[in-house]
Amino acid sequence: IKEIALDRIEKISELEEVEQLRVKYLGKKGDLTSVLRDMGKLAAEERPIIGQVANEIRDELEDAIASVKGKLTEELKRNRINKEKIDITMTTNKKKLGHKHPLLATIEELEDLFISMGFSVVVGPEIETVENNFDALNSPENHPSRDLSDTFYITDDIVLRTHTSPVQIRAMKEMGAPLRIVSAGRTFRFDDVDDTHSPMFHQLEGLVIDENINMANLIHTLDIFIKELFGDDMKTRYRPHHFPFTEPSAEVDVTCLKCRGKGCTACNFTGWSMELLGCGMVHPKVLENCGIDSEKYSGFAFGMGIDRITMVKYGINDIRLLFENDNRFLEQF
Ligand code: PHE
Repeated sequence: IKEIALDRIEKISELEEVEQLRVKYLGKKGDLTSVLRDMGKLAAEERPIIGQVANEIRDELEDAIASVKGKLTEELKRNRINKEKIDITMTTNKKKLGHKHPLLATIEELEDLFISMGFSVVVGPEIETVENNFDALNSPENHPSRDLSDTFYITDDIVLRTHTSPVQIRAMKEMGAPLRIVSAGRTFRFDDVDDTHSPMFHQLEGLVIDENINMANLIHTLDIFIKELFGDDMKTRYRPHHFPFTEPSAEVDVTCLKCRGKGCTACNFTGWSMELLGCGMVHPKVLENCGIDSEKYSGFAFGMGIDRITMVKYGINDIRLLFENDNRFLEQF
């Protein structure tokens, strides 16, 4: 029995056969079991000897069965793993994921900075009324920026906004005071295209209105913003300027980003990078135009060109690259 059984066990190739053989030899009615059961018929002196042999054979068969079973189970598992394996290095024709345009990345960075200072982000339309783009902003009837040669008119009272300042007007009219907002977006002016000019460009605008807001608040806010954006060693210089919608007004220069103030060709050895921002205290007339009590409230506003900031930040020397959507350019960011 032992010999035949071991031989058959060795030849097993299917897991189900293991159980069949176990039943055949070791089951209740199995060959070996009947030997053990028939022990009673043997002479008393033969019983221990035959019993011992039979028990040893049973142990041996059990071991053999367990080991084949283990081997087959293992094999089955391995086959299955092989069959279900995925080659993760295989190339597919899946579409490549895009990434942020450097301009959008800059806008989001600027917005995040202002959000961290308690500002809310608002948006306004690119097609604006002359009222919001000029009139409410206290721009004189004869101001040169209103000229057909400077502004894209859609009708007599509708223009492509020439700056993001009309979003201030909308925010003040809709939300009133107090207010703390920034707004970024596309702006349009009748400019010839060259490496630093484009008829479509981008601005970010900020506005704070509350009781007792003064010029010191303006300077402090912008100084912090500029240090956060470009580094702690940044210095600022506020030069008196004129905007119809702010009084007093200033233009802000910052330390030259190339030489960090030492003097280089980029800054004509002045150490300053010119006109990063325009800013000022909101003109009382503008507040009144938007229904805000200019006796109770005051505010400051600022605006900056983000194309230029993006160009300095990423070392881009031609504004046209930002708008041509050439993949060879975009893939570098
Ligand atoms: N709107 C101005 C411009 O386009 C910038 C500005 C915004 C200046 C807010 C002062 C206050 O040049």
